Amino acid sequence: MSHDHHRHDHDKGFMANVHWLLKVHKFWQADTNRAIVDMVDPQPGESLLDIGAGMGPATVLAAARGASVVAVDPSGLMRSICGVRRLFQRARGRITVESGTAENLPVAGGSMDALWTVNSVHHWVDLDLAFAELARVLAPGGRLVLMDEDFTHPDHPMHETHHGHEDEMTAVHVEAIAASLGDLGLDATGQKTVAAGVPVKLIRATKPI
Ligand SMILES: C[S@@+](CC[C@H](N)C(=O)[O-])C[C@H]1O[C@@H](n2cnc3c(N)ncnc32)[C@H](O)[C@@H]1O
Repeated sequence: MSHDHHRHDHDKGFMANVHWLLKVHKFWQADTNRAIVDMVDPQPGESLLDIGAGMGPATVLAAARGASVVAVDPSGLMRSICGVRRLFQRARGRITVESGTAENLPVAGGSMDALWTVNSVHHWVDLDLAFAELARVLAPGGRLVLMDEDFTHPDHPMHETHHGHEDEMTAVHVEAIAASLGDLGLDATGQKTVAAGVPVKLIRATKPI
């Protein structure tokens, strides 16, 4: 291998590391997570659920507002990171990290005042099963917010790097999802909008009392 070629490989490896570090930063603390917590508007004493919580950026913000939060994620790595992060929170006594998926939520029926997810709906494998779970776990009067960044939108700052993988992911159609939640008895709306300065797909719903 020539010297130049070797250096080229090295640079590629370096750039991959930088790319990964930028991703870690985003998973650790993203403005979209701050935005969704503002939308959910957690109240002290409430029981909340963060589905596909990842490293827990929204969980820690919601718990800091006085709510109890169950952070659910199927990834052992993500749960480990979220669990260690939990230890550094003043609100750690109000945070629980659990294994689970949107399709199989590890919480009792009617037990959650609110639930949300950021950037996980496109990972869900069985949307109908997941929607039934959302409707099951919400308490009467409970609310939900589902947010997925819209990388297909040309205005999204990561459009160039993230666009094109849609075929490998579950499609997120806001109107169809709102209609499915409506069929389950929730009052739901879906829209494409902007949150924290980026295009997002957003579904909001409440469970009638
Ligand atoms: C892009 S990350 C988003 C993490 C976090 N919500 C955030 O905004 O930083 C997607 C997360 O969804 C999780 N996930 C994958 N399949 C899932 C499923 N079926 N149900 C719930 N979460 C899932 C992944 O393990 C991952 O942590």
